[in-house]
Order: sequence, then structure tokens, then C-alpha cells
Amino acid sequence: MIRLAPSILSADFSCLGEQVGIIEKAGAHVIHIDVMDGHFVPNISYGATVMKSLCGKTKLPFDVHLMIENPDRYIADFVTDQTEFIVVHQEACPHLHRTIQYIKSFGVKAGVAINPGTSLSTLDFILEEVDLVLVMSVNPGFGGQKYIPSALAKVEALKQIKELHSLNYEIEIDGGINLENVKTVTDAGVELVVAGSSVFGAEDIDARVKEFLKIFEQ
Ligand code: DX5
Ligand code: ZN
Repeated sequence: MIRLAPSILSADFSCLGEQVGIIEKAGAHVIHIDVMDGHFVPNISYGATVMKSLCGKTKLPFDVHLMIENPDRYIADFVTDQTEFIVVHQEACPHLHRTIQYIKSFGVKAGVAINPGTSLSTLDFILEEVDLVLVMSVNPGFGGQKYIPSALAKVEALKQIKELHSLNYEIEIDGGINLENVKTVTDAGVELVVAGSSVFGAEDIDARVKEFLKIFEQ
């Protein structure tokens, strides 16, 4: 099953609850939570308090994307009954194996993300351990950037490796996804689709979510 994870980074924070209600009613599956620290990435977004303000207000699970240095220090803050995934960056984790085990110790699924310039081979010895691999299709830090097409080869390789070795991770893509390019990435093996500006920047958010879901059915 392919799932849509709208990123609230592009939502209107003056009415966040309302906007999340719209995507939930329209059929979105997951809420993507982009946490930026101004160090690992050149931008600051929001922290666990904002995410936790949605607990109980929506039934959708959270997909927490930590674009921060020293994520181990903050992982526990993002554990809630609604947290499905906590995703850390390979580039931010000198002890990636330990960090992945730490996330799993909370009973939360653990994911690893790689930047556009990072080789998939850096994950060779962790793929067996993770529940999710997030392929960045923009350089992390900002919503509304242009999709980097070389992400597709990583998705294809991840799908092949997964099948060859009977591994269990889901494949996620994040950055610059829109109605024009989404089918290409889902055909290649993406199961969790992040979309920020193309959902919350739409004039009709409800209709846009439904357009994505319709493409998933094709
Ligand atoms: C980028 C974030 C993305 C971003 C996606 O650093 O990780 O999740 O919000 O936004 P769009 O879909 O606008 O590229
Ligand atoms: Zn993200």
C-alpha cells in the first residue's frame, strides 16, 4: 500500500489543527513532522511541542524527520502513542547502529534518511536493522524546492536490495514531490510519499490530497 504523508512544514501554523483536520478527512495516511535545528540544516522549524499539540486532535500517525545534530539527545521527546516512525540522518549519526536501536527501544519504528549527495552504500550495514529508508530528493532545510532526479536510482536500488535479501524496510521519498512526478517514484518502489508545498500550498488542500490518492490507485 502506498501512503501519503503531507509535511506540515508548509501548513499555515495559525490554523494548524484545522489544516490537519482537512488532510485527515481527505484521506491522507500519515503526518510528516520536519524538525530542523539550524545546525544540521540551515533553517529552524519547530520542535516536539508543536507535534504534541496535535496528539489526540488527529488520529493520524506521526512520521518524525529529525534534521538535527545529535538526534539521540531529543529522540525521547518525540515518542508518543501516535509516533509511528522516528527518522534520523545518516550524516548526523556517527553511531548510527546504536541510534537505530535506541529508537526501537521505545517501541517506535526506526528510519534512516540520506541526503542527495550521500551514497546508498553508506547504509549497507544498517538496512537489516531499519524499518524505513528515507531518500531525500532535495537538500534538506526548506520546503518548496525542486525535485532532484538522481533520487530515483536510489529508490530503485533500495527496492532491489529489499527483494533480494527479503528485508522489511519501507521506502520513503521527501522533497519536491508533486502530481507530475509522484507516479514515477511510486512505480520505482516508494511506499511513503512526503508532500509539503504541493499539498498545503494548494488552493484546495482537500482536493489536492484526493488527487494524490487517485494517482496511487493507478
Ligand atoms: C525538506 C523537508 C521536506 C519538505 C518537503 O527539508 O524534509 O519534508 O517539507 O517539502 P516539499 O514537498 O515542498 O518539497
Ligand atoms: Zn521531511
